[in-house]
Parts: sequence; structure tokens; C-alpha cells
Amino acid sequence: MDITFEGNRLTLSDGAGFRHTYSALWLRESSFSPEFRDEKTGHKLGDGDTLPLDIALASATLRDEELRLAFTDGHRCAYSTAWLVDTARKPFFQELAGDKELFDASLDPLPWHDLAELQASPAAIRDTLDDLARLGFALVRGMPSQLNGMQAFIDLIGYMRVTNNGAIEDIKAVPPEQAYDLSMTPRALEPHTDNPYRIPQPGYVLLHCLENAAEGGESGITDGFRAAEELRKESPALFDALATTPVNWFYRDDQAILEDTSTFIELNRQGEICHVRFHGRSDRVAAVDPDQLDAFYKARRRFIELIRSDTLEVRLKLQAGEMFIVDNYRIVHSRKAFRLETGARHMRQAYIDRDVVSSRQKTLRRSLNAKPWRAR
Ligand SMILES: [Fe+2]
Repeated sequence: MDITFEGNRLTLSDGAGFRHTYSALWLRESSFSPEFRDEKTGHKLGDGDTLPLDIALASATLRDEELRLAFTDGHRCAYSTAWLVDTARKPFFQELAGDKELFDASLDPLPWHDLAELQASPAAIRDTLDDLARLGFALVRGMPSQLNGMQAFIDLIGYMRVTNNGAIEDIKAVPPEQAYDLSMTPRALEPHTDNPYRIPQPGYVLLHCLENAAEGGESGITDGFRAAEELRKESPALFDALATTPVNWFYRDDQAILEDTSTFIELNRQGEICHVRFHGRSDRVAAVDPDQLDAFYKARRRFIELIRSDTLEVRLKLQAGEMFIVDNYRIVHSRKAFRLETGARHMRQAYIDRDVVSSRQKTLRRSLNAKPWRAR
């Protein structure tokens, strides 16, 4: 590593192609020095906005891969060059740790886990969450057959999200006058992500099977990121239509008005797909330019074809005591129709917010002794 500095700029470079110029104020404000930063939380003890705007480097020395800095306000701190390189190469936080693996229908093996193992071993919880990060879903067997049996899993992660429909909800066919959602009928549910009209949209969907004896009722799981990447490969223009056309999502009844506007495909700052939405019942695309709408309608048609295709959709039938957890910003899920006269089908569903899952994964990766998310 080599350094050069002048005034309020410092450049770090190696012979292998890394080169980044840092602002002196950024280096000053990033200080890990205990006089400036709380060691327990990593939060600053002082206000960054009061640091001198014209702060400069008084000295900079590099020894044993440690960069020691002194600033014109008298502050001194040190960084490892590895940390500085890392912050330049990966300037943003990652919601979940680890690389994503986009999958198709040939995914084998499926990411099965066992509740008893999760209860016995924090490493097994971490592995389940790592699968959720990598694939966007995980499957758990050995779930208790009681109505709220999925609470045993939720307790290992943290808290569930409560909505106006309650906490752990029934997904079973009920008399038509009691149904407030299409999931409460025996009809097929076309591929969808849950509740894009909520703010925030539920982060993770848990579906616990108590009984699935009826004919039909198989689940479909498609990697929405994979489907979107396929679309991008086939036609950048159609991909762009789904990434830019605003869609209004809504649910309205006598007790709730839930509305949000967003796109089918959302990209992060690096241009990577970070959120896929599809809910063909609650969407009404905004009345934008009709030429844009033409492209949008065509793109939507192709997108759903890809989502339901034999090559992309993983199909399985959950049995009693089995559960799936899916990343609702990535996985598009569906279920086939079932015939009530051939047996009962009873599922229970719950949501978990995104920060609960990402915090649990990251704290477990830091230490297997990490405590689940709890009120203090
Ligand atoms: Fe759903």
C-alpha cells in the first residue's frame, strides 16, 4: 500500500489496481477513537456537522498496514488499510450478509431445516437465515401442529409483524361472507408477493401447514430476481418499463384503506435488483403516458409468463408440520386450487419485518451467543 496526501485529500493505492481518494473530513468523522465514538454502539459521541469544513491532514504515516492520521483540529486516529479498502469497495450496507444465488426450478437440494435442530443450535438458525439471504426462502419441518405452532420459530428470530388482520392468521377456506381475502377461498392464488399496498410491505412471509389433505393446494415459489434478470436479458426495454412505471396498489374495505405507489422492479444504488412486486389483484398502474403503458403491459405479460414457467417455478406441496419462510421482496409465491370435498387444507400465516431478520442473521454471524431480538 502507498499513501499520498495533500491538504484535505488522502489517496491510498496498491500495485494491484486499487486506488481511492478519501476526504479528510470523512476520515476525521469516521474515527474509531473512544473520545469520539462510543465503543458499545459505534455511535458518534460528538456532532459530525460541527467539525471544521476546511479540516485537513496534518500528518499521515503508514506502518504494518495501519494508517495513523493527525488532523488540523488536533484529533488523531488510526485505520487498518483493510478497513479503508473495504469501505471504498463496498460503500453501502448490505441488508443480509452473503452473496445471493439466483435459482430456477432445478434447485436441488431445497433449503430444508428442522425446528428441533434450530432450537438446539444457534448455528442451525444462522444457516437457515443464510439460506434466506442466499436463496430468498427456507423450509422448516417438525413444526408443532398447534394453531400458533409457528410461534416456536418466530421466538428463535424475534418478533412478528402485527397488521389490522391480526398476528398469526388463518389461511383456509371459510364461508364466503367471512372471507376478506381471496386466500380464504379454495381458488388458486396466482403468483404474487404479499400486500404491496402496506407501508412498509411485509418483509418476510411465514406459511405454516397444519393440514393439506385436499387434492391440489401445491405451492409455487419463483425467484423474482431471477425472473427479472431473465427479462432484462431478453429485453432491456421491457425490464426498464417494469422498473420505471409507477403502479398504485390498494386494499379498501370498511375498516382499512391501504395504498402505496411503487414499481414492479426496484433497483438499488448499484443497479442491482433489490425488490420485486407482483400482485395482479390490487394493482392499478398509474395513468401515465400511453406509450409507456403499452410497454408496461407487454412487460407485465412477459414477466408473469417467466414467473409461472416450468423452468423457473419451484413447486412443492407442504405437508402438516412443514413451513416456508419467503423473502417477500424477492420470492413470488402461489398456490394451486384445491378441492374442499377431498379433504381439509389449513395454513397459518405470519409476517416478520426485514430489520428483525437482518439483525438476527448479522448478530448470529458475529457471535453464536447472540440473543434474539427482544424488548429490553
Ligand atoms: Fe400470499
